[in-house]
Amino acid sequence: MEVSGKTKVFCVIGDPIEHSLSPMMHNAAFRHSKIDAVYVAFKVEKGTLEDAVKGMHSFGICGMNVTTPHKTAIIKYLDGVDTVAEFVGAVNTVLNANGKLLGFNTDGIGALRALEENGVKTKGKRVLLLGAGGAGRAIAFQLAQEADELIILNRDANKARVLAGALRKRFNKRVVGNDLTPNVLKNWIEDVDVLINATSVGMHPHRDHTLVDKSLLKPELTVMDIVYNPVKTKLLKDAKSVGAKVIYGVEMLVYQGAASFEIWFNQSAPVEVMKEAVLEKLQAGGLSLEQ
Ligand code: ATR
Repeated sequence: MEVSGKTKVFCVIGDPIEHSLSPMMHNAAFRHSKIDAVYVAFKVEKGTLEDAVKGMHSFGICGMNVTTPHKTAIIKYLDGVDTVAEFVGAVNTVLNANGKLLGFNTDGIGALRALEENGVKTKGKRVLLLGAGGAGRAIAFQLAQEADELIILNRDANKARVLAGALRKRFNKRVVGNDLTPNVLKNWIEDVDVLINATSVGMHPHRDHTLVDKSLLKPELTVMDIVYNPVKTKLLKDAKSVGAKVIYGVEMLVYQGAASFEIWFNQSAPVEVMKEAVLEKLQAGGLSLEQ
């Protein structure tokens, strides 16, 4: 696609940002969908966020993704946020709607879609979620509406308890919050159908780290990891080796990106193209995500 005076600009802001996979993923989607737009990454340091948002206005940037450390701080500069972003207290997608900047959070929708597209229903199931950080809260918000029972464990147990309480109140569902210790984990994992790691444990360079001892995993479980670098985390390798169904973090990355694309363009995102672009960048050439 030739860049011209009419080409629309989209971006991701964060710090650090140079390793972001979003430019590859979205530019591949724009090309495939024949959309006259480019997607670039801007390093925006803490303390310069307000200027960056003003820049979005004055440059007429049409859409933006937001990552660490700005996902929460950006809210006060926006004209409005959707219900998920408001509950979670974090925004990862901004739409410039004729000068009004609207914030969304697509992390939870991305995780749920990654499960569904891989044939895993959470309706009526018991789900164990590890992590109550930004991503964990977004995923919990979606899961609490679907699952029969949701157990949230977090290293900082208070965060898990507060989140569980807020979800119980909002959705009138069984939601439990507790400490993320080996003993508590062992207790809860026995009766769940789906296990999701929404912590950063296992992320490069700590590739051999996992919160779940392999002896606790079983073939009946579905295990999803939000960590996508490495693609095959220790948790997912262990899960696969015991015969559990695994869902890679790349899937969630792609579906949260697809949800951003759909907010910006109001048309379906080319998810396979986006997935290929991401996998290529992760240098996982030839790697198959088939079960
Ligand atoms: P994100 O936006 O990616 O979710 P975050 O909000 O910083 O990032 O959340 C990181 C999550 O990983 C949190 O749940 C964090 O637990 P705490 O809330 O107790 O900090 C979890 N986490 C990070 N390192 C961890 C570790 N070594 N063991 C257990 N949990 C960890």
